[in-house]
Amino acid sequence: MAEKEKAVLAYSGGLDTSVCIKWLQENYNVDVIAVVGEVGQEHDGLEQVKEKALKTGAIACHVVDMREDFANEYLTVALAANSLYENKYPLVSALSRPLISKSLVDIAHEYGAKYIAHGCTGKGNDQVRFETSVRLLDPTITIIAPVREWDLHTRDEEMDWAKEHGIDVPTTKASPYSIDDNLWGRAIECGVLEDPWNEPPADIYTMTVDPQAAPDAPEYVEIDFKQGVPCAIDGKEMPYLDIIYAMNDIAGRNGYGRLDMIENRLVGVKSRECYECPGALALIEAHKALEDLCLERDVLHHKLNFEQMWAIEVYNGKWFSPFKKALDAFMASTQTCLTGSVRLRFYKGSCVVVGRKSEASVYNYELATYDAADSFNHESAKGFIDLYGLQLCTWAANRAALGVSE
Ligand code: ARG
Repeated sequence: MAEKEKAVLAYSGGLDTSVCIKWLQENYNVDVIAVVGEVGQEHDGLEQVKEKALKTGAIACHVVDMREDFANEYLTVALAANSLYENKYPLVSALSRPLISKSLVDIAHEYGAKYIAHGCTGKGNDQVRFETSVRLLDPTITIIAPVREWDLHTRDEEMDWAKEHGIDVPTTKASPYSIDDNLWGRAIECGVLEDPWNEPPADIYTMTVDPQAAPDAPEYVEIDFKQGVPCAIDGKEMPYLDIIYAMNDIAGRNGYGRLDMIENRLVGVKSRECYECPGALALIEAHKALEDLCLERDVLHHKLNFEQMWAIEVYNGKWFSPFKKALDAFMASTQTCLTGSVRLRFYKGSCVVVGRKSEASVYNYELATYDAADSFNHESAKGFIDLYGLQLCTWAANRAALGVSE
């Protein structure tokens, strides 16, 4: 008997991807290899998830710990780019998808698999991110998106299908929310959040406490950076991965890092999204403060534009694009001297930069001070302003002569 074709599936252990296993077997007559990516999400043990995949019928299940690569190859660049989509969202899910895709492609090669499958819906960004990434990494692989193809329209229909096919269905009441989380934060959508007028219920958050319930005393934290990458907290050196965990903890217990926004998806839909990204947002605040001190003005100003482009590129699933790579090179060139320290103060939902220092600081006390040490040449200011405003004065004089104001 000829061997069956194989499909590598991005598996989470939830209802959707469990149904995917059986559905792929039935509809594509394939053997399914499940891949579970550990990217710092909350879970009750990934070994259990693996067992569930195998019990549901996968011929193999790989649990891949991607956290170090995620921190060192993805979240370093995300921090260098201070990346915030639409000036707010630190790209939590958008950052993990290309990394998971890379692993799916590697495992597909290992097994000689013809297909890669994912459990994303046809309405979101994640399908685009998985598929563009996989296509760029290996265009010969065919992608299957079961959730987009099957006609199970409600959760109940899906549950019934699962029961008929002997899949363990969740016994606890399903969360009304759709959640995706990793080291960089947690995304919460659906349910009552779909009405943008509804205040997010308190129970959607797990990484952050309610700011009102946060400690009544401020908490200070000092972060050291080496070439743009955090390397120590309060003088204690640790790997970036551990720093991210620690900052999630510190910022989270002080109620910092919640976002509630209306976001423009790539597929043309506006959606209401709630996030909690305590560590990511605190690190970005600190990193920006160090850049303010160390980057030359033009570099800093243009970087702000490139940061927006970087965020849009990554949000839209183009992690592996040449334009994104070119932007990475720009970002990297700005980080070479970014070594120094930033002091943050957390207090009941706020995170404020209260100090920054660096050997690469371009802040010059003698130029800045209003005290006796002042070395700024006040006389050259007049000539500078005369020339700086010359063309405007010429224009204004002409318009005055014409008797018009524009
Ligand atoms: N809207 C966010 C994004 O596109 C989060 C998506 C998270 N996915 C989910 N299943 N909740 O990056």
